[in-house]
Amino acid sequence: MGNFKKSTIYQIYPKSFCDSNGDGIGDIRGIISKLDYIKSLGVDYIWSTPFFVSPMNDNGYDVEDYKNINPVFGTMEDVDELIREAEKRGIGLMFDMVFNHTSTHHEWFKKALSGDKKYMDYYIFKEGEADTPPTNWQSKFGGSAWEYVPSLKKWYLHLFDVTQADLNWNNPEVREELKNVIRFWKDKGVKGFRFDVVNLISKPDVYEDDNTGDGRRFYTDGPRIHEFLKELVKDTGIEDMITVGEMSSTSLEHCIRYSDPAEKELSMCFNFHHLKVDYKDGNKWELMEPDYDRLKELFETWQTGMEKKNGWNALFWCNHDQPRIVSRFGDDKKYRKESAKMLATFIHMLRGTPYIYQGEELGMTNPGYEKIDEYRDVESINYYRILLDEGKTEEEALNILGQRSRDNSRSPMQWNSEKYAGFSESEPWIGVAKNYKYINVEAEEKDEDSVLNYYRKLVDLRKQYEIIQDGSVEFMYGEQSEVFAYKRTLDGQELIVLNNLTGNEVLLQEPADCKGYECLISNYDQENDKNSIKALRPYESIVLLKL
Ligand code: GLC
Ligand code: CA
Repeated sequence: MGNFKKSTIYQIYPKSFCDSNGDGIGDIRGIISKLDYIKSLGVDYIWSTPFFVSPMNDNGYDVEDYKNINPVFGTMEDVDELIREAEKRGIGLMFDMVFNHTSTHHEWFKKALSGDKKYMDYYIFKEGEADTPPTNWQSKFGGSAWEYVPSLKKWYLHLFDVTQADLNWNNPEVREELKNVIRFWKDKGVKGFRFDVVNLISKPDVYEDDNTGDGRRFYTDGPRIHEFLKELVKDTGIEDMITVGEMSSTSLEHCIRYSDPAEKELSMCFNFHHLKVDYKDGNKWELMEPDYDRLKELFETWQTGMEKKNGWNALFWCNHDQPRIVSRFGDDKKYRKESAKMLATFIHMLRGTPYIYQGEELGMTNPGYEKIDEYRDVESINYYRILLDEGKTEEEALNILGQRSRDNSRSPMQWNSEKYAGFSESEPWIGVAKNYKYINVEAEEKDEDSVLNYYRKLVDLRKQYEIIQDGSVEFMYGEQSEVFAYKRTLDGQELIVLNNLTGNEVLLQEPADCKGYECLISNYDQENDKNSIKALRPYESIVLLKL
């Protein structure tokens, strides 16, 4: 059993975590200064999003140089120190490998632009007339996925921003370059890797129009994807390191293959299906109330499907691309604490490896930006335009961004109640949420009942109980939309997890018989009925164990 089964991973978005030198931008030394705090959460790994040299059009997901540090974040010495200091505390670093594309500022792309054949073959260039892109594929950030280069009379593919050019993985030289990046960081003592949108790297042989969608069906989990991953892992010798792939619009069948240890690809996968249950017709920019039946169905399918075939899930609600979960599936006002804890319990007792995104452990909320000039994210700014062009009013467009923008997760980490939430001494690059006065690390350290201390307990429970790491999972109260409940079993032991997804009291369709069970954790201090639970209070969570 890989040790990642009892591990919890903490995700850091350096730009918004802690600023050590007062320029308003978080940095590596800021992270180092908070390692004791991170250690106090009980987590085993830190995944940091990229801090490599980059023009920062997509905040570092547009890499210009994979082996050097963006001076805004610090120096190579700082990164070496971060790795060493984390290791001293028993924490491994996972670095973020953005291998689907590079920045157009990367020297490979610059050489390609100058007409150097070798480097043109590092990317995906296609012939075409200046007014007709090779296919009708759409960029994930809006607009065409192709950009014309007049000097070459060719188009290049960019599934993301126009400054993020897709790499040509069919070229063995490209694969070799990327392996060298892994070898470089592995030698520095990095303990694992997160691979950005890695299931998009294998492009089809033939490029054709997509008449039913935006083109993703041609390159998602593409033809050589499993071969490429196996080769990358084997040739860099990272089979036994912790790895996670970010899988865009993927399928259960592929994720089983990506994460089955016998396949020697990755330790686990992120998928996003459960974070689309509030997208109307699958469209992120159309608001809808979350469909809890769908949410339950998805967790059931993925949990049981992965277990049956030896796959492994990454468990998460939040990351740097997602709005804050307490504002999304919880209630960030009246029941902020209860719902934040319920959502945490939901995830942390499941089969898989949980991830905590900076600030989630405090129950941080969406920041509530009100004007377009408070936004920084390229996707949000593009879509604001698109929404207006589609006929939405400014107010409607801002309301949508307020709920869907990636900047909701990028507001500065709330450390204390001082100016700028203790994140920086000067004005941060992006605004602090107004509620930092009471939602912050310092306040929550003092409050035994805080969301922060609840997260610590959850992380600790996973370490203590094998049933949480390895028990099999079976779902309960399937017919009841308001309730998300499951049972884990291992060698005759049973763990029952009951969660009320709503802000109302919910009567259970049939009482949960819990004679002989002990309560491991709950978000209400007054214990629910000891022998038989008939109802759940608003956002109540209870975890029961029978040995
Ligand atoms: C991933 C990252 C996201 C980035 C995109 C393109 O989805 O999480 O932040 O914009 O890939 O690299
Ligand atoms: Ca700084």
